[in-house]
Amino acid sequence: MTQARLVVDDDFIVAAVNDRLFGSFVEHLGRCVYTGVYEPGHPTADEHGFRGDVLDLVRELGATTIRYPGGNFVSGYRWEDGVGPKEDRPRRLDLAWHSTETNEFGLHEMADWMDKAGGNELMEAVNLGSRGLENALDLLEYANVPSGTELSERRRANGADKPFNIRMWCLGNEMDGPWQLGHKTAEDYGTLAASVAAGMRQIDPDLELVVCGSSSHGMPTFGAWERTVLEKTYNNVDFISCHAYYAPARREDGSRDMASFLASGVDMDGFIKDVAAVIDSVKASLKSKHDVYISFDEWNVWYQQDEPSKTPEGIDNWPVAPRLLEDIYSVADAVVFGDLMITLLKNADRVHAASLAQLVNVIAPIMTEPNGPAWRQTTFYPFAQTARLAKGGTVLEPKQDSDQTATAKYGDVDAVNSVAVRCTDGSLAVFAVNRSLDEAATFEVRLPEGFAPQSCSTQTLHDDDIFAANTLEQQNRVTLHENDSIAIDADGNAATISLPPVSWTVMHLR
Ligand code: AHR
Repeated sequence: MTQARLVVDDDFIVAAVNDRLFGSFVEHLGRCVYTGVYEPGHPTADEHGFRGDVLDLVRELGATTIRYPGGNFVSGYRWEDGVGPKEDRPRRLDLAWHSTETNEFGLHEMADWMDKAGGNELMEAVNLGSRGLENALDLLEYANVPSGTELSERRRANGADKPFNIRMWCLGNEMDGPWQLGHKTAEDYGTLAASVAAGMRQIDPDLELVVCGSSSHGMPTFGAWERTVLEKTYNNVDFISCHAYYAPARREDGSRDMASFLASGVDMDGFIKDVAAVIDSVKASLKSKHDVYISFDEWNVWYQQDEPSKTPEGIDNWPVAPRLLEDIYSVADAVVFGDLMITLLKNADRVHAASLAQLVNVIAPIMTEPNGPAWRQTTFYPFAQTARLAKGGTVLEPKQDSDQTATAKYGDVDAVNSVAVRCTDGSLAVFAVNRSLDEAATFEVRLPEGFAPQSCSTQTLHDDDIFAANTLEQQNRVTLHENDSIAIDADGNAATISLPPVSWTVMHLR
């Protein structure tokens, strides 16, 4: 039996939890928009064509910031195609996903949808792939200038009298990736991003700008990319992005390396620490007083090499909203996912924004069928619970001891990973994963002096079949279960609980 212990101490804090840690991402990709958030004619659709069943689930999920409209898509996107009367909007090739973009849904629809979803914050990306400074300035003028100019008046004529007032802007997407339309060297991208940032600030000096970091920790240019780009942009940007997707590697015999996969949080943690080190080093060499934080604006489990992620091919084959990246998530995937959320929280001093990629249908916690139901994937549960309890809270410094579990990729790692958050109402939330494939863990939480909880609700995501998943046919096959193994000692100083192998758990102590 694995042993692990977390000491909760209010005197040592990591940081306040930024609500933006619970952001998500809507890209024009596959069925994320069309038949995902937007499906006129669906039985639950409103007058805008927004699916009511999806809106309900998004509210339950608790997603905050929504990154839009891409992703790889944005690097070929002309934002003005998606505004104005729908019947006049052009159909275009989407080169990123080899699809046809109808432009039926654009900036206004996204903003309206977010109002309906509960006032989420829009995080807009500008196209620095096929476009540059002028188009970025045009989009900013269209979106944020109240009135009195050609573009702001065009927005008003298109139905948005008030500006969208978008605060957070991504300066392109994954510009380090050779697959990216308009891919650039760090030198070229850094120079462009610096001029776009400066230009955008001439319109609105208080924008929060995100410069592209690496599209994964494993990119050959990782580290050098961040350094070069930050050296050129540091004082004019607020965030540098990180992107990371995890999947179990296939061995030669076809089996999957699940032990390493379950320890993916170790890589994410190292990624954040490495980027933080580059930020600090550039800050020091520039003798800057300004702080740059991390926007982890794409993260998830993604079976990128598998069939659902194969894009269409052929000069005569550009489907509208094809089924793409529709990964079905298992219990094991959700445990890794929960561990990634714990890792983001543990680094809340450096990571001030994060976007789960993506929101609906495309590597998403919410799945839909056209003209049919919407349901929760396994990953929905750790996201919703973490967002519900941690929003507005304070992350306490993780003083944790755990027995180790062996992995081929990362060596021996903590079998249990956990973090405690002091919630807004003074209660305490502890999130924990057991990464071991075969050993249960006894997990002791030492509580702050005098905390003496009166009540405790504890829920675990686990199944004897770690590959169990929710599907159209079985939408609630995997859910959270009460974990009644919890025991609080007589003096109220410690709570002890059993964590099954491959499991994610939330303890809420009041
Ligand atoms: O989220 C799917 C894709 O992953 C995004 O479009 C891209 O930015 C990343 O490579």
